[in-house]
Amino acid sequence: MALCTHPKLETRCFHGGHNSCIFGASRRRNMGAFVSFSRVKMAASSGGEMMGYEEGALERPKWSGETPLSRLVRALISFKPLYSLLKLGARQVLISTAEKKNIPWREMTKEILDSDVYKLMDDIQDTSLVYPDYYLNPFHAYDEGNLSWLAAAEAEAATMSMVRRAIPDASSLDEANQIVRGNWLQAIDQHHTMYSGSTTIKDILDIGCSVGVSTRFLADKYPSARVTGLDLSPYFLAVAKFKELKSSPRKNPISWKHAKGEDTSLPSQSFDIVSISYVFHECPTKAIINLVKEAFRLLRPGGTLAITDNSPKSKILQELSPVLFTLMKSTEPFLDEYYLTDLEATIKEAGFVNVQTILTDPRHRTVTATVPR
Ligand SMILES: C[S@@+](CC[C@H](N)C(=O)[O-])C[C@H]1O[C@@H](n2cnc3c(N)ncnc32)[C@H](O)[C@@H]1O
Repeated sequence: MALCTHPKLETRCFHGGHNSCIFGASRRRNMGAFVSFSRVKMAASSGGEMMGYEEGALERPKWSGETPLSRLVRALISFKPLYSLLKLGARQVLISTAEKKNIPWREMTKEILDSDVYKLMDDIQDTSLVYPDYYLNPFHAYDEGNLSWLAAAEAEAATMSMVRRAIPDASSLDEANQIVRGNWLQAIDQHHTMYSGSTTIKDILDIGCSVGVSTRFLADKYPSARVTGLDLSPYFLAVAKFKELKSSPRKNPISWKHAKGEDTSLPSQSFDIVSISYVFHECPTKAIINLVKEAFRLLRPGGTLAITDNSPKSKILQELSPVLFTLMKSTEPFLDEYYLTDLEATIKEAGFVNVQTILTDPRHRTVTATVPR
């Protein structure tokens, strides 16, 4: 693996795969790039070579899990009048920071709400689906959680915002996506190439696809594959389908499925890659375990599981200001459980091998693993 430095940007990239560095830095043949804007350093490995962004000194942020600080924040949030205020505050912060970063949040939302997206609901919704209890909690400052048109209409702007927050120095959303989504795809590709025993990727499942942003990134990266986006929210899926119908047609159109990620009813061993991105921080531990087990059932031998989400070890997340972590915790009811879940151990217990974790951007880790061949 080679490390290159971009002095102007104070940027360093690790090279360990087969693509090129987007900053045009020197590269070795058959070497790829993880792109970074912040200072990076080698991080501890959990099985195999690993690279990443700067880690904090702790296992997880002090404001998460069962620390006194975390309990104090939880107690504050559980006080209803304060919770309502925080919820409102969190929403204001989200919208105003997005719009400051040129993400036209309100305009994007209006465009969806004024469209005929509603007509797609009947085709997509499985009316017999029973939602898990945890999914019916209010979160992300929406009383109906993900089960509303407003949440669905705002989801893409919220996703863009998350990407911009992860790379605050990026000059555009595209540049931030090249890092956040680019490094995530690179981690999947490198893992699959190294461990699957086959380079052919025929079927990909994106569990918790929301309005299809991650699904479209996967479909663009692997145009020959059949890609399925699966989600519990029929509102989000309708928006995903609506956006896809408005874009240029693909050789392999994306399929959308309304189902529980932990019980998909899809055939066993029918996918080469199962991706679960930014879903687990919204789930209690029990759901995380069941989602991982279902992914194991769905993958073919040699298939790759890829999970990306907040990294407990991220220095930036560990050093988040009290205002920001309190606002965040007020809209994410399962954040403490997520931070306390040993994800790598859960993945190994489900039967996966080659479990690897890297920080693919300053805030997020990507965990990849293989179903034994
Ligand atoms: C933050 S969004 C995911 C974003 C998307 N994957 C991306 O990378 O842009 C989380 C999604 O997970 C979905 N979700 C949560 N629990 C789920 C479950 N058990 N099964 C399927 N989808 C689930 C939610 O409905 C929501 O759309």
